[in-house]
Amino acid sequence: MSLFKRIKRSLTGSIQTDDYESRVISRNNNKTRSTFDPQILPPEISEREVEILKDCWNTVQQDVAKVGIITFVGLFETHPDVHDAFMSFRAVNTSDLEYNAILRAHALRVMGTVNKCIYRLDNRDKLQELMTEMGIRHKNYSVKIEFIDLMGPQFISSIKASLETVWTDEHEKAWDNLFKVMCYHMRKGMCSI
Ligand code: HEM
Repeated sequence: MSLFKRIKRSLTGSIQTDDYESRVISRNNNKTRSTFDPQILPPEISEREVEILKDCWNTVQQDVAKVGIITFVGLFETHPDVHDAFMSFRAVNTSDLEYNAILRAHALRVMGTVNKCIYRLDNRDKLQELMTEMGIRHKNYSVKIEFIDLMGPQFISSIKASLETVWTDEHEKAWDNLFKVMCYHMRKGMCSI
């Protein structure tokens, strides 16, 4: 069994491989953007969506490391080339334990950014500033711009699993809009240097 499947199994207790879902996410991600066009504006996030996002986040936060790790594992499974962009994963001659520790630390940092964005929904200028600077740093990490939009669908698929009893199309749209806004400003930052 592959390392990713072992990690997923240890987190979810399931031996299901999610291959079907992975293929769907992979197929839906063919429309990633490799340039930044400032004319194509991100969607508006409505007050109702802000409410949904904050509500969901309160629940997701109780298991934030798990959601983060499943997001990354899904990303690496569906897009193996993304894995190679991470120096920290390439550098170590990993045992499962070491790999898990790095993955967890990394996933928590990304979840920390989602957390900041949720709180900055009440101050959109700060959200934009945070994500533009994040984009500049990602450019310095040599991340390809077309990878940026890949994170949202994986994240949504992970939280959907923890919120399946309450999840509706409205939830899906609210999270999709949040990631579109985050990624718009990230790509903007990447193209500013
Ligand atoms: C919404 C999307 C994303 C968010 C919020 C995010 C957030 C972060 C954060 C918080 C860090 C820690 C360092 C820092 O703050 O500068 C980081 C590092 C990094 N991220 Fe992202 N990231 C996103 C998407 C991506 C994608 C799609 C890739 C694909 C390759 C990527 C590649 C990296 C790399 C290479 C590092 C450097 C750290 C290392 O090599 O260990 N990120 N990211």
